[in-house]
Amino acid sequence: MLEYTLSIIKPDAVERNLIGDINSVFEKNDLKIVAQKMLLLARRDAEIFYQIHKDRSFFNELCDYMTSGPVVVQVLKGKNAVKKNRNLMGATNPENAEENTIRKLFGISVEKNSVHGSDSDKNAKIEINFFFSQKEILD
Ligand code: CMP
Repeated sequence: MLEYTLSIIKPDAVERNLIGDINSVFEKNDLKIVAQKMLLLARRDAEIFYQIHKDRSFFNELCDYMTSGPVVVQVLKGKNAVKKNRNLMGATNPENAEENTIRKLFGISVEKNSVHGSDSDKNAKIEINFFFSQKEILD
């Protein structure tokens, strides 16, 4: 099924010049980047984006981290894009991620794990709408 998913290249990866390497993984695996922008997340936006984790012990740390430097937000399009991107990213904790996944290749820790990707089609729609207007998605 043709789908869209929201991807974020996190501050640790942007800082280490990994935008191109990570985008190359998407493109080599038939995920098309149909929208992309670099931004510094406002604290309030990070809190809203991650509100599902608001009661977790790491919530404040997570919001601090995601606002600590520029991120790249992007919309990826492709067949089964949500699941495909989850597979390409690997497990949340890079230590547990499968070989050749983005988090295994580039992640540093569970916090500095280089990328975020939507976990369901429903959340992908919510997350894409959070960052992009329809006219920014060049489909
Ligand atoms: P992400 O896919 O962006 O969604 C929520 C994020 O919370 C997750 O990636 C991790 O980076 C982060 N996270 C999950 N568990 C922990 C933890 N125990 N400590 C710090 N950050 C965490």
